[in-house]
Amino acid sequence: MNDLAGKHIVLGLTGGIACYKAAELCRALIKEGATVQVVMTEAAAKFITPVTMQALSNRSVYDSQWDAREGNNMAHINLSREADAILIAPCSADFMAKLLHGRADDLLSLMCLARPIDKVPLLIAPAMNREMWAHPATQRNLAQLKADGTTVFDVGTGDQACGETGDGRMLEPEELLQDLVSFFLPKVLAGQHVLVSAGPTYEAIDPVRGITNLSSGKMGFAIARAAHEAGARVTLVAGPVSLPTPRGVERVNVRSAQNMLEASVKYAQDATVFIATAAVADWRPAQASDQKIKKDGSGATPQLDFVENPDILATVAKTPRAAAGALYCVGFAAESHDLLVHATAKRARKGVPLLVGNIGPATFGQDDNALLLVDAHGAQEVPRNSKLVLARHLVTEIARRLRATQP
Ligand code: C5P
Repeated sequence: MNDLAGKHIVLGLTGGIACYKAAELCRALIKEGATVQVVMTEAAAKFITPVTMQALSNRSVYDSQWDAREGNNMAHINLSREADAILIAPCSADFMAKLLHGRADDLLSLMCLARPIDKVPLLIAPAMNREMWAHPATQRNLAQLKADGTTVFDVGTGDQACGETGDGRMLEPEELLQDLVSFFLPKVLAGQHVLVSAGPTYEAIDPVRGITNLSSGKMGFAIARAAHEAGARVTLVAGPVSLPTPRGVERVNVRSAQNMLEASVKYAQDATVFIATAAVADWRPAQASDQKIKKDGSGATPQLDFVENPDILATVAKTPRAAAGALYCVGFAAESHDLLVHATAKRARKGVPLLVGNIGPATFGQDDNALLLVDAHGAQEVPRNSKLVLARHLVTEIARRLRATQP
């Protein structure tokens, strides 16, 4: 992926042990296509050397407001003018206090104060001991920085370098990268609550056996991530898959179709969009055995009767809120052939405004896919790409349709 292609990030480091994570973050930003200019405070240079950051960013590091390398001797102006964002990671409690007061007695704070506030966003990733984080002064500063337009990334929870445990760790580089990528994406689903179902279901035969299918859940998880990036509140009802939960997404784990129905109906009560990507088992054993069915050595095989599972999407699409247009329902169809014919028929059968077709065997478990969007106006092909790129495209298409239906 090249989610930060063309972006120039000024990465500011302030004094804290989390500086060691800034090295990895710098690499991650560059791998994602950004150019990175590192600016360090004097205290940051006690934790990690400018040499390391120069090698990783492939640019000279700036750490003084008296840097004679700049023709006009105004590094604070020059560096900030070309940035798409200034990201301070780690941002110490002391540096937060400085930012808050508009102090400018070192290059990094001077540059933050001198940046064109409407053009160059300031993002901070706080990192400090839990008591410092919880202190009323820090929390007051935090609130005021947000009110001043600073984007404040969350802090992590867990073991701290000081030996204590609690809130205040800097997020991991991969988490910060995701949050930064998300920051630059348009918030086309702001104010929406998106419910996504994903993965297979598992229908028990007995306590140790069951039937399931090959759905990996990757498409649904990518959609949940894309919806969150687009500013929505996201609830992800996930069948049994071991994928990591996308950042900022509320995950509800379920196992059977019946569990998935209950969770979906519950969260659909205040969702505004339902995207059903789950590969729900069509049938389940009529009676799951309480005990393991034993092989008796006679060669006899168990006789399994099946009953049909509820159709979750059709059930949700029939609820009064969906019928009234307050809940926009999107279905998926995994077919092996004649995609347009089957997807068009399925859209009508499920009673949903948008149906997304894909060729099942060509996408199950893969990282890429190709989609066919079918709505009342016709069909639109979305060519093969990574599931995340397709998910972002789908989210944009859903947002466009929502704007047309929700004044
Ligand atoms: O009927 P079919 O399984 O082909 O339909 C696929 C679509 O319907 C997907 O959006 C899937 O999540 C949804 N579905 C459902 N409950 C079922 C079967 C399918 O929600 N029992």
